[in-house]
Amino acid sequence: MTREKTMAPNLTILFAREQIAARVADLGRQITTDFAGQPVVLVGVLKGAAIFLSDLARHIELDSTFDFIAVSSYANQKQNSGEVKLLKDVDQSVEDKNIILVEDILDTGLTLSYLKEMLMARHPRTFRIAALLDKPSRRQQPIRADYTGFEIPDEFVVGYGMDYAERYRSLPDICVLR
Ligand code: IMP
Ligand code: MG
Repeated sequence: MTREKTMAPNLTILFAREQIAARVADLGRQITTDFAGQPVVLVGVLKGAAIFLSDLARHIELDSTFDFIAVSSYANQKQNSGEVKLLKDVDQSVEDKNIILVEDILDTGLTLSYLKEMLMARHPRTFRIAALLDKPSRRQQPIRADYTGFEIPDEFVVGYGMDYAERYRSLPDICVLR
């Protein structure tokens, strides 16, 4: 993305706020049904998943707690190395808990593969992934989400928590940035 795009972005709505709200409510109902009264821990991947997690949580009618993890990828320095650096770990133990990892976008799959392996090694009771968006055409690691909001083509999107160089996270709609 060029500097010009940051200064005068071309933003086109891909999913409007009403569509997002309806889909997130669906996912919450599905999770409520699947866990049938059991407690769940929603583990959000900062910062992109923060808005999705806060909306999703309010549609999950279960005893839920929140935790957050932060990572940075080395994609810029080491193209496709798959190296992910953990910047912030969860605060609470995940052992014997029903963990739902909440992510904004499942893209190459490198981030979620790394986080899944790390968390599975700590023996959660169950482990599920909720991803608001999925770009299946970009996948480099064979990983899939258990709950997916929308599948999208290989476009760069912003809004509803997602950024380009830390901007646009507060847009209420999900937009393509060109
Ligand atoms: P992965 O490891 O390639 O699956 O990386 C997923 C992460 O890349 C997401 O959590 C996002 O932070 C970021 N990402 C991938 N595609 C986009 C996009 O279109 N807009 C904003 N961030 C993106
Ligand atoms: Mg992210």
